[in-house]
Amino acid sequence: MCGIMGYIGKKDGYPIVIEGLKKLEYRGYDSAGVAIMNGSLSLYKKQGKVRELENYIHTQKTNGNIALGHTRWATHGEPNDTNAHPHLSETGRIALVHNGIIENYATLKSFLTSKGYTFKSDTDSEVLVQYIAWYQSTYSLDLNEAVRRALGDVEGTYAIVVLDTLKPNGVIVAKKDNPLVFGLNEGEFYIASDASPISNFTQEVIYLKDGTYAELFDNGTYEVYDLEKKSIDPELTTIQSSKDNYSLDGYDSYMLKEIHEQAQTLEANMEQRIDLEEGEIRIPEIDEHKRIFNSANKIILLGCGTSWHAALIGKYIIESLCDIPVEVDYASEFRYRNPIIRENDIVIPISQSGETADTLAALKLANEKGAFTYSLVNTVGSTIARNSDIVSYLKVGVEIGVASTKAFTAQVNLLTMMALKIARIKGTIELSKYKEIINCLDALPGLVEKTLECNKLVKIIAENYYKRDHALFLGRGLNFPVALEGALKLKEISYIHAEGYPAAEMKHGPIALIDEQMPVFVIATNRSIIQKLISNVQEIKSRKGEVIVLKEEGQEFPNDLASYAIEIPKTHELLSPVLASIPLQLFSYHAAKLRGCNVDQPRNLAKSVTVE
Ligand code: M6R
Repeated sequence: MCGIMGYIGKKDGYPIVIEGLKKLEYRGYDSAGVAIMNGSLSLYKKQGKVRELENYIHTQKTNGNIALGHTRWATHGEPNDTNAHPHLSETGRIALVHNGIIENYATLKSFLTSKGYTFKSDTDSEVLVQYIAWYQSTYSLDLNEAVRRALGDVEGTYAIVVLDTLKPNGVIVAKKDNPLVFGLNEGEFYIASDASPISNFTQEVIYLKDGTYAELFDNGTYEVYDLEKKSIDPELTTIQSSKDNYSLDGYDSYMLKEIHEQAQTLEANMEQRIDLEEGEIRIPEIDEHKRIFNSANKIILLGCGTSWHAALIGKYIIESLCDIPVEVDYASEFRYRNPIIRENDIVIPISQSGETADTLAALKLANEKGAFTYSLVNTVGSTIARNSDIVSYLKVGVEIGVASTKAFTAQVNLLTMMALKIARIKGTIELSKYKEIINCLDALPGLVEKTLECNKLVKIIAENYYKRDHALFLGRGLNFPVALEGALKLKEISYIHAEGYPAAEMKHGPIALIDEQMPVFVIATNRSIIQKLISNVQEIKSRKGEVIVLKEEGQEFPNDLASYAIEIPKTHELLSPVLASIPLQLFSYHAAKLRGCNVDQPRNLAKSVTVE
C-alpha cells in the first residue's frame, strides 16, 4: 500500500526519493508524487506509475535538499492527480505525505469547514495537513507542537512526514500502526516505509515506535518524542546492506522471475536449517525455547490471503507430525472476537511482508493475552518480526510481484521444517521417518526445477481456457489449501472468477455450477485417498466438466477422466503442496498474460496491506 520516501540533508533529494519510490513500487499503488524544497516548494503529482511522474517532471527544476515522495494506494477518494500526495495546507505552508487512515477525518473536516477551510481533494490526508495548519495558525505554534497536538486528536493509523515551508531546515516524522523507518548518515536522513530504499545509503536506522514522532534537521541532528513531548531514547538498529536484486533478469515480469527462482529460494530457505550429515533440522530460535515447544498445548496459525493458505497446509503437517492441536485463523477475524488463549499456547503469525495490518494487530492481541509468539516472516526487521517473541525468516529475498509465489512455497517449507523440529523435540516422530523427510526436503529444489518443465504444457492449457469466466480448483487433505491458493492466484492476476473447494464437498452444492464451460483443476497427489478423489472427479466428468488433473509421475489416473494431465515429480506426500503449487502459479501467469493483464501489479491490489 502507500509508500513513503523522504530525504533531508545536503544532497539533492529528488533522485534519491525517486529511486526509493521505485523500490517501494512492489507495495502496490495508483498514483505518485513528490515535494521538493529549495527556497520555495515545488510539488508534482500524477496518477499512474512512478516513471510517469518522472516523465512529467523531466523538464522541471528538481534540485533541493529536502524531498518528500509518496506512492498512493487509494482509500478515500479515487486515484487521480489531485488525490495523490503530497498534500498541502490551504496556504501552501505545510506539506505532508501519509500512509494509513484517519478514521475521524469526517469530524475533523466538518470542524475545519466551519472555520472556513476548503479542500481540494477527497482524502483524509488533506484533512490532517489542514488540521495541523489550523493548530499552527490558531495558537502560533511551531510545526513540532502543531503536529503533536493534531495527532493527539486523531483517531486511526498513520505514518507521516511533514514539512513547514517557512522553516525549511527540518521535517517531522510520526507513526502509529503504519511502518516508518529513518536512516542516519553524516548530516543527512533517509526516511521510508521500509528499509529497502535506505539500506544502500546507511545501515544505521531507527524504526519509529507507535505513538512517537521525531524532528529531523538538515544538519544531521534529531530528537525523538512521545506524544506528551517527553524526549525518548530511540533504539538504533543496524541493518544489512541490501543484496536484493531488483532487475528482471530477462523475464517479462517479476512474477515469472519469482516463480522460476523457487529452486534457489527453497535452497536459501533450508540453508543452515538442514544438517544432512547429522540428519537434523536446525532452528536455533526453537532450540532456545525447547521447553515452550515441548509443553505446547495448542498452536494457533494466523495469516491473510496466501499466508493463510500456507497456514492451512501447516496445520495439516503439524497435526500429523507433532501431536499438537492446531487452529488456523484469518488474522482479520481473530482480532475481532475473543480468541481463547491459554497457558502454553503458541501463536504463529505468518506474513511475507511482515507489515500486514490485520496480522500485526492479531499478533499484538496475542501478545496482550500472554501467548508466546513466533512469527514466520520474509522481510527482515519488519514490524511483525520486531513484535514477536521469536522469528524465523523465509530468506527468499525481496518478493516484488503482488501475487505471492516464492514466499508461499518457502512458508510451507519452513512450516514443514518447524513441524519436524517440534516433533523431534516432543518425540512424536520416529527417527527413520524424520530422516526420510529431511532427505526429501534436501531433494526438493531439484524437483522444483523439474516441475518447472511443465511450463510449456501449462501455457497450452492456458491458451485453451483463458477466455473462460470461471474456474474451479479441487483438492483433498493438504491439497485443499493448494486448491484455494490456485484459485486465489488466478483471480487476483487474471480477474477470472475462481473458487477452491475440498473435492468431496462438490456434491453438497457447488456441483450445480458444473457444465462444459467450467474448467476444473484437480490436485490429485494424495496417495492415501486417491480412489475417493477419483470418484469425486467421475461426478464432475459425468456433468460435462472439463478436468485438468495434477498428479504424480507414474501415478495411475483414468485417462478418460481428464482433458489434460500435468505430472509433478514424486516426493514425500507432506511436501507435495510445494510442487503442486507451481503449475497453478504458471497457469495463472499465462492466463493473465493472454488476457492482457498486468501480472505484477494487478488492479486494486497492494503487496503490503497496511490498512485494516
Ligand atoms: O505480506 P503478507 O503475507 O502478510 O500478505 C498477506 C496477503 O495480503 C497476501 O498473501 C495476498 O493475498 C497476496 N496478494 C496473494 O498473492
